[in-house]
Amino acid sequence: MARVPSSSIAIVFLAIFLVPDLSGAVPGDPDLIRRTCNSTSFFDLCVSSLQSDPKSSKSDVKGLSVIVINLGISNATDTSSYTSHLVKRRRNAGLNSALEGCAGRYADARAALCSALEALSLDDYDFASLHVSAAAAYADMCHSLFRLSPALTYPAALSSREKALERLCTIASDIISLLG
Ligand SMILES: *[C@@H]1O[C@H](CO)[C@@H](O)[C@H](O)[C@H]1NC(C)=O
Ligand SMILES: *[C@@H]1O[C@H](CO)[C@@H](O)[C@H](O)[C@H]1NC(C)=O
Repeated sequence: MARVPSSSIAIVFLAIFLVPDLSGAVPGDPDLIRRTCNSTSFFDLCVSSLQSDPKSSKSDVKGLSVIVINLGISNATDTSSYTSHLVKRRRNAGLNSALEGCAGRYADARAALCSALEALSLDDYDFASLHVSAAAAYADMCHSLFRLSPALTYPAALSSREKALERLCTIASDIISLLG
């Protein structure tokens, strides 16, 4: 009776263990971005946002949430400085005070997103989600400063920046809810 050389048994075992697991969230899975974004409220924005960062192709689901939060941080930072700059170009005291308030709320939104990253690094998904929701709420508080003063018109540019940050926050929350 021919004996199977033990080396070929070893090769069969190796082959079994080296077959990639296609069922789970494997980092570098080319379909992971689409599958993850499919669970969010803004599929196209989610895919294009993630694809804008080359790290996304090597990320797991948690890594994808970190990328979206970092995009939110640059969004909030940019809007905070945008509103500060607008203040210098206006003479309307009421408008300036609302714009200054908005610069502060977007700085708060940035800080909340930084706290979300910290919570994620501790695998504290509930707190991460809470901080992401707070960031979106800060963007809405800026809008409220204008709602409270009927004499003021909410600038269209600020309105689209608010939507941009709120959508990124929604996508981040949707992805974090997959981590639980
Ligand atoms: C996207 O989600 C829907 C249900 O919400 C599901 O039927 C579909 O198979 C999903 N597509 C992918 C690529 O995961
Ligand atoms: C903010 O996010 C939007 C997408 O929601 C994007 O189009 C825009 O370029 C971002 N801006 C910055 C400064 O990150």
